Amino acid sequence: MFKFLLFLALLFLFTQTNAEKNLVLFQLFTRHGARTPIHKLPNDDAVWYCENMMDEAPSFDQSSTEHLPFIFRRVFIMDSGEYLGNCTHGQLTKTGSEQHRSLGKKLRAKLIDTGFLDKTYNPDEVYIRSTDVDRTRQSAQSLFLGLFDLPVDSFSRQDSHISKIVPIHTLEKSNEYLNTNGNACPLVEWLQYIMKYDQEYLQHEASLADLKAQMKKIFKTDDIPALDDIADTIECRIAHGVSLPDGMTQEHVKQLEDEMFWQFNFTYTYKNLSRYALGLGLRDVLQEMILKINGLTTIKFKHYSAHDTTVAPLMYIFGVQTGQPTYAAHIYFQLYKEAGKYFVKLEYQDQPIIIPGCKDVYCPFQKFYQIAMDLIPQPYYKACRNF
Ligand SMILES: *[C@@H]1O[C@H](CO)[C@@H](O)[C@H](O)[C@H]1NC(C)=O
Ligand SMILES: *[C@@H]1O[C@H](CO)[C@@H](O)[C@H](O)[C@H]1NC(C)=O
Ligand SMILES: *[C@@H]1O[C@H](CO)[C@@H](O)[C@H](O)[C@H]1NC(C)=O
Repeated sequence: MFKFLLFLALLFLFTQTNAEKNLVLFQLFTRHGARTPIHKLPNDDAVWYCENMMDEAPSFDQSSTEHLPFIFRRVFIMDSGEYLGNCTHGQLTKTGSEQHRSLGKKLRAKLIDTGFLDKTYNPDEVYIRSTDVDRTRQSAQSLFLGLFDLPVDSFSRQDSHISKIVPIHTLEKSNEYLNTNGNACPLVEWLQYIMKYDQEYLQHEASLADLKAQMKKIFKTDDIPALDDIADTIECRIAHGVSLPDGMTQEHVKQLEDEMFWQFNFTYTYKNLSRYALGLGLRDVLQEMILKINGLTTIKFKHYSAHDTTVAPLMYIFGVQTGQPTYAAHIYFQLYKEAGKYFVKLEYQDQPIIIPGCKDVYCPFQKFYQIAMDLIPQPYYKACRNF
């Protein structure tokens, strides 16, 4: 009997806490999906084929595609670019777009099946923000298709139930603050420069001599890219099942991955670099929460589509040592309401994170506000130029 009562009590507690914490705002940061390389290896003979997933409507009609007679597609001329095939460097591939579509589908269960968002795209609820780079805009598009369960070619489908232009809000690259950008914050560039003269960095560099010598042997040249650039290109190959360069072993791959981790980990724990790199990204997150709490916005879902150099500093700000985030890596900033009080829950790769300074994964908003305000450098632009 007692056991049964205990069970009821527990059930009550359980349903209480679960039923009462209502999601009111979901903010998502992602790294783009798998892409072609940015750095060419010596004698690079890998072939890359890309579907171009960015069909564009003629730009005269800003509201609807319903009566458009045609759309345009960019096609890269075969074998005439930097790589063999028809991709440009750093282009989102089909694999990359599928990674974002499946993330969108996963979020559909969390955000649409629960009734949190309207079943079809509602511009009053959904806000998309992206860096102005093809692969991040395309990643945002792919996630959108997964979220609203739309076919990949919905744009050209006659029976499609969506015929709206979906805005993707962006900034000019020179002042984009959603990634590590020395243009937007010169202090970041300065820190990235001086960290290379830090004793620890120099010692680490010295320890790489052997790996560098092996890479020179594999590529049969002394003129090799930086090890983390090689690592990045190898990551692209592995993601697409493209074979490793001749002579490269799994052990080399492991060493390159470790080097990539080290570079990210050193950079984003160096002085306050992460806070300067993504301080304004965090400010945007906080601002959106404040608008929501004060009933000043109808937005419920905000997607910031960006880079590894976005996701990493944003998590390092909160003490999570991510190394280089994987393709389609994701961060959730969730705002919940319970009995008139607000709570923030942070997740990285679907793992709840206890924000340093909070007792629980559900951090009271007031506490989160104080923590975030201390982490955002202020006054930001002055600090970025005053060194
Ligand atoms: C690139 O080439 C592949 C293989 O021939 C082809 O399937 C694909 O449609 C091409 N991409 C574009 C945008 O034409
Ligand atoms: C990452 O960097 C921090 C700060 O330099 C260091 O304390 C930590 O051990 C590093 N993490 C790993 C896994 O190497
Ligand atoms: C980082 O910022 C904190 C708080 O603003 C400051 O106290 C600290 O001195 C800074 N650290 C470095 C290494 O600049």
